[in-house]
Amino acid sequence: MRPFGFLLALLVTLLISPFVLGEAQPHTTEFPPSAHPDDVCLTWSGDPSTTETVQWRTAPEISGGVVQYRKSDAPETTIVELPAEAIRLEDALITNAPAVEHFTAKITGLEPATAYVYRVGDKQGNTWSNWATFATAPKGRAPFSFLFFADVQNGVDVWGKMIHQMQDRNPNAAFCLTGGDFVNQGNNRALWDELFHAADGVFDRHPVLPTIGNHECIGGPGPKLYLDLFALPENGPDDVAKERAYSFRYGHALFVVLDGNTPPAQQRPWLEQQLSGTDAVWKFALFHQPAYSSDPGRDNRAVRDQWCTLFDKYHVDMVFQGHDHAYLRTYPMNAEKVVATPAEGTFYVVADAGTKYYKQEQHDYTAVGFPNVSTYQVINIDTQDGDKLSYRAYDADGNIRDEVTITKPAK
Ligand SMILES: [Fe+2]
Ligand SMILES: [Fe+2]
Repeated sequence: MRPFGFLLALLVTLLISPFVLGEAQPHTTEFPPSAHPDDVCLTWSGDPSTTETVQWRTAPEISGGVVQYRKSDAPETTIVELPAEAIRLEDALITNAPAVEHFTAKITGLEPATAYVYRVGDKQGNTWSNWATFATAPKGRAPFSFLFFADVQNGVDVWGKMIHQMQDRNPNAAFCLTGGDFVNQGNNRALWDELFHAADGVFDRHPVLPTIGNHECIGGPGPKLYLDLFALPENGPDDVAKERAYSFRYGHALFVVLDGNTPPAQQRPWLEQQLSGTDAVWKFALFHQPAYSSDPGRDNRAVRDQWCTLFDKYHVDMVFQGHDHAYLRTYPMNAEKVVATPAEGTFYVVADAGTKYYKQEQHDYTAVGFPNVSTYQVINIDTQDGDKLSYRAYDADGNIRDEVTITKPAK
């Protein structure tokens, strides 16, 4: 870079660094913790067919936490109790709640395709969450549905209403894939307090399987608070910090979650292992910064070179992304070209669930694109007479804004 360019870049960096780094001032949280457990969130850190991970928080004076669970059709005498691990999340800048106790209970040994009821709490104080339900994944081929949304980031209230509608209309969806930028400054706990409060009644019923956005890394070091808040599978690449990239199997589908903030080349060998070593009928990928942009000039060349070439080679069916704050679904793509059928290529989706909107530009790869609409996506996989995937994007009023199907012959 020429000296002038370097000095200009340095000046700009110095001027904007407090905002880029998210250097926060003392502030309060609108949703401080109490002795009563809240912010209950399901996820998977192990096999979805035999495990469930439950996380929640309390005020720091509560040091013990347990999860109680049983099969939903079994008598109360069968309740199993599992102690949780606790970590203290401290943030001295949050003046009305500088610390919370964050609990994680990893339930193992469950039966596949089975519904359970559970609650979390503190036995000593006899304070408990409401009983809620979760269901384990089937072992093999079976119909299921899942949800996808991205970039909550701004407009959490509006998003909260939308996902409750999503929950009401899809009570049996197996889990939520989330596409990054959950909050605007990832290491500001007050923003996560607000997010989990808005998700109450949704995240305690549908496991959340997230990817890391660039905003999760703001106010760092890196996505520290995100990694503390979500216990995820530790099966990612050896040279990438655990839980930043991971994969999981749900029924006859493979989900590979990549970290768009870590160089794509570093994750390529592991990605190839995941895709080449699976017998899954359906293959999906999730990451934040999109390979195909909805906006002008935000395509990600390294992602196309390092990851999309593998999606082509091993035929990934659909890729879920965020970051661009507008809606985009591409035509099926292979080798960066539009192809005629889903059997020959991969659909790339960018979605936005928040209220921050960017421009939308039509590209030769754009099948459906529009700006200024918050959406959530529902993906149904049916297994009658072969396999059929039905993808639909809904706006906050429940209107279908995009839909596409993929069919596969019976094996
Ligand atoms: Fe974003
Ligand atoms: Fe982003």
